[in-house]
Amino acid sequence: MDPSLIRNFCIIAHIDHGKSTLADRLLEFTHSIDERQMMAQILDTMDLEREKGITIKMQAVRMMHVEGGQDYELNLIDTPGHVDFAYEVSRSLAACEGALLVVDASQGIQAQTLANVYMAMEHDLTLVPVINKIDLPNAEPERVAQELSDVIGFSLDEMIYTSAKEGLNTDQVLRAVVERVPPPKGDESKPLRALVFDSKYDVYKGVIAHVRVMEGKLSGRGIVRLMHNGMDLEPLELGVFRPWLQAVQSLGPGEVGYVATGLKDVRDSRVGDTITDARHPADAPLPGYAPPKPMVFAGLYPTQANDYEELREALQKLNLNDASLVYQPENSGALGPGFRCGFLGLLHMEIIQERLEREFDIELLATAPSVEYEVTTTDGSEIVVDNPDDLPEPQKIGQVREPWMNISVVVPDRYIGTVMELVIGRRGEYRKTEYMLHSQDSSGSSRVVLDYQMPLSEMLGDFYDKLKSTTQGYASLVYSFSHYQPARLVKLEI
Ligand code: GTP
Repeated sequence: MDPSLIRNFCIIAHIDHGKSTLADRLLEFTHSIDERQMMAQILDTMDLEREKGITIKMQAVRMMHVEGGQDYELNLIDTPGHVDFAYEVSRSLAACEGALLVVDASQGIQAQTLANVYMAMEHDLTLVPVINKIDLPNAEPERVAQELSDVIGFSLDEMIYTSAKEGLNTDQVLRAVVERVPPPKGDESKPLRALVFDSKYDVYKGVIAHVRVMEGKLSGRGIVRLMHNGMDLEPLELGVFRPWLQAVQSLGPGEVGYVATGLKDVRDSRVGDTITDARHPADAPLPGYAPPKPMVFAGLYPTQANDYEELREALQKLNLNDASLVYQPENSGALGPGFRCGFLGLLHMEIIQERLEREFDIELLATAPSVEYEVTTTDGSEIVVDNPDDLPEPQKIGQVREPWMNISVVVPDRYIGTVMELVIGRRGEYRKTEYMLHSQDSSGSSRVVLDYQMPLSEMLGDFYDKLKSTTQGYASLVYSFSHYQPARLVKLEI
């Protein structure tokens, strides 16, 4: 396909602002999927995702669309909707040139709207503002347009007003994608570099790497190399997402598709890796690769000791599609044999736990979640401790450091005091407050962005629930890892 006729884009939004619903309308409008096959929210495939209304694992889909008499190939790359998966989001943004920024017309900008916008800007994406849910009786599209214009700098005539639920103005969204999102650049004569932005396990085809070709050409014949992994392999098949898998002969610069690798382990073809041609390799991989880093740890124990083997198998199965889950066997005096697991964050932990219980029918006992501490011992060695059992004797500890997070809360200004009290009460430190212009709600309260830093360990318990309940549900929160900081901590044995 001529790259000037390709558009690669994603949809970014705060949770529940209508990302999946809009994606459904785009698929329908472009006849990318048979209406009889159309399940609501086709891009959210897992049951748990549907129930929690959040996108955990992303999908990609190629749509064909005619605009001004010309055929275009539009690749919609879905992004996970939660901050625990920020690295995955960053890799899918890196595969796109543009993003639809969906904002709920009854809610306006929320914490995750801003976090996503900053991330999209870092990747130089063209943003198309979409004000959704204009059918709601309490929608305030003009006010939200003003807010977006003040806070992010859009001009008012850039806004597209939609009701994804009713399919209103879907055509305008597609036109804006074609007209505003730049086509991909990329030189076909250069050595191949394709970004792996997702990786899934398929029983027949092995690990399927979802790729965006940046430069060069990926052809079905010949050996390719995963540059970070260092592994060479012969692809079983190349293809594109329609959204079913459709084999193709080659993928050129700017194109999005998949490589069926035949590999058995998603950890061999990690998100962020670069695929190149093994005979004419590129000099350097694409920037931005990082191995997943678990942040939250807990022990999982079967309540029935004879479920231990089943738990091991279940973890293995989940691991097939989730390279970021780590686990190792551990034995507890009180709870018997189980596994020490590491998760990307709290939501990730909750999802894994629920899937083990529901899909594998294993009743679990989970220990209180904890974080990873860095310890410098008195003899100068450095160790990492994610289980209190492994903490050295007090007299051998020189310094303990714990992870701190940047947190950002968007809330009506009448709750500033409440949020401040909650965060400071958990060892948080204030950074700054920013008022959002034109954000007054019906009670005359403006919304503010409050930035703090706080220890991750203080967020593990009921922090989010407390934040929600003390602000009557108005606060939205995002967080990201900041740094390790020395702390005065003791181990308490009961
Ligand atoms: P995450 O996957 O959690 O990020 O959510 P999402 O942004 O994909 O939101 P989703 O599409 O799941 O929509 C959230 C809720 O809003 C669902 O109940 C939708 O039916 C509803 N919704 C989406 N668009 C509209 C709209 O235009 N009007 C109305 N009234 N409801 C909408």
